Amino acid sequence: MSVRNLIDLNQLTLEELDDIVDMACRISRHPSHYSSACRDKLMATLFYEPSTRTQMSFQSAMLRLGGKIIGFDNPGATSVAKGESLKDTVTVLSGYTDILTIRHPVEGAAMAASLYSSVPVVNAGDGGHLHPTQTLTDVVTLRNVAHRTDNLVIGMCGDLANGRTVHSLCKCMARYGGNSFVFISTQALAMPDYIKDYVTACGCRYSEVRTIEEAIPYLDVLYMTRIQRERFANEEEYEAQKGVYVLDGKKMSLGKPDLCVLHPLPRVDEISYEVDDDPRAYYFKQTLYGMYGRMALIIRLISEHESRQPDKPQVDSGFVCRNPKCITQIETYLPPMSNDTPKGKVCAYCEHHSH
Ligand code: CP
Repeated sequence: MSVRNLIDLNQLTLEELDDIVDMACRISRHPSHYSSACRDKLMATLFYEPSTRTQMSFQSAMLRLGGKIIGFDNPGATSVAKGESLKDTVTVLSGYTDILTIRHPVEGAAMAASLYSSVPVVNAGDGGHLHPTQTLTDVVTLRNVAHRTDNLVIGMCGDLANGRTVHSLCKCMARYGGNSFVFISTQALAMPDYIKDYVTACGCRYSEVRTIEEAIPYLDVLYMTRIQRERFANEEEYEAQKGVYVLDGKKMSLGKPDLCVLHPLPRVDEISYEVDDDPRAYYFKQTLYGMYGRMALIIRLISEHESRQPDKPQVDSGFVCRNPKCITQIETYLPPMSNDTPKGKVCAYCEHHSH
């Protein structure tokens, strides 16, 4: 692979991504063949934010590969509670281990961590920004249940403003030929412009609608998401958005016979329990594909990282990120970095425009 860390799935070429997906499919068929692939290797899971699937699928993936794990999921019980910086925690833990996975509530935290790690860093979710291994999960699932990753009409429903899973998935699926998107959300929770611009730049079409009913008859994939309570400024704003979208049996009856319903989980109330028994509901199978995807990713990153140079930060000393949710606002020692886009400079950590 051309990368040492996995911060954004789009760091990989499609060929590299498909190689990992192929490997995940092979592992799912013969997991015992890989039971010592990471013997004597140690993974640290740094979870600054709650998680069930991502944390435990990474842990079970490493254990099933014959490796070992350390880590935390309660930063309050670590020296973070005494004020230790992200830089110092990562510098120390990367000295103990062979790979780090990090989930953090602040956008750009995984990229920041990668600057100070001597071993590969995997972004397990950074605030409302990206969740690349969820997207890997989704792609492995689509390969297995839809039998293709191109020429799909993909509906995304719910909190498209704050949902890092849909941001990552959109950026990834826009690279496969012939995909188009239907964004189903309220105006307040619409897909951010930078994702829509990316989709357009890839030559894909998208539309925005307000109801599941008007979109579902045309969809090959319906990707449901929960309203991200923890990302709202206050409870009133959350209350105004919660419960707007609920996928139930009646709405499912409008969908194609081969519709794939996915959800990154956890679910709150956006999919009725009656839908679980519909053969088109794949969200629990999706969680298993996630473990195989992460097994493949761990093998590739650990086996290849010796041959990769650490990423060199492209410091842009004049750049100031104005996103209040960016890691540069909290870990103020971080070097300012930017990337050029057709619409101007964006912060290299969180992808927000400078204006
Ligand atoms: N899909 C997902 O990220 O779930 P967790 O928050 O439980 O890890």
